[in-house]
Amino acid sequence: MLPLDATPVSGPQGQRVKRTGRAGFGAGARYAQAVADTLRIPGIQRAPLVGFSFAGQAVRAPLGENLAAALMAGGIRHLGEGPGGARAAVCLAGACQQCLVRIEGRIVQACRERVRDGLAVAPA
Ligand code: FES
Repeated sequence: MLPLDATPVSGPQGQRVKRTGRAGFGAGARYAQAVADTLRIPGIQRAPLVGFSFAGQAVRAPLGENLAAALMAGGIRHLGEGPGGARAAVCLAGACQQCLVRIEGRIVQACRERVRDGLAVAPA
């Protein structure tokens, strides 16, 4: 878990987001939600938000949302390291294998998984 400072940072669309404390289900979750709120189209009815984690970092997303999309909306793009370097979701269609993550000991494609409450996701 990375320590966070109290310095305001910019979200993906340049908005000011203040991060305080350490990443977790408190300040980290609020930051992730602020980022997600800027990426999701407002006004669309979604399933209730649930909490899951990636490498110990808390993320909140609508139940059943595509896991790769939920991670991106939560500000998590770096999913791990592969033979060619850093990996991130690229195709979102199950073809590139760049979104591999580990869930409950299984290596799976994040773009082919759905968000569940309490899901513990780790880099593959
Ligand atoms: S993003 Fe390409 S396989 Fe998942």
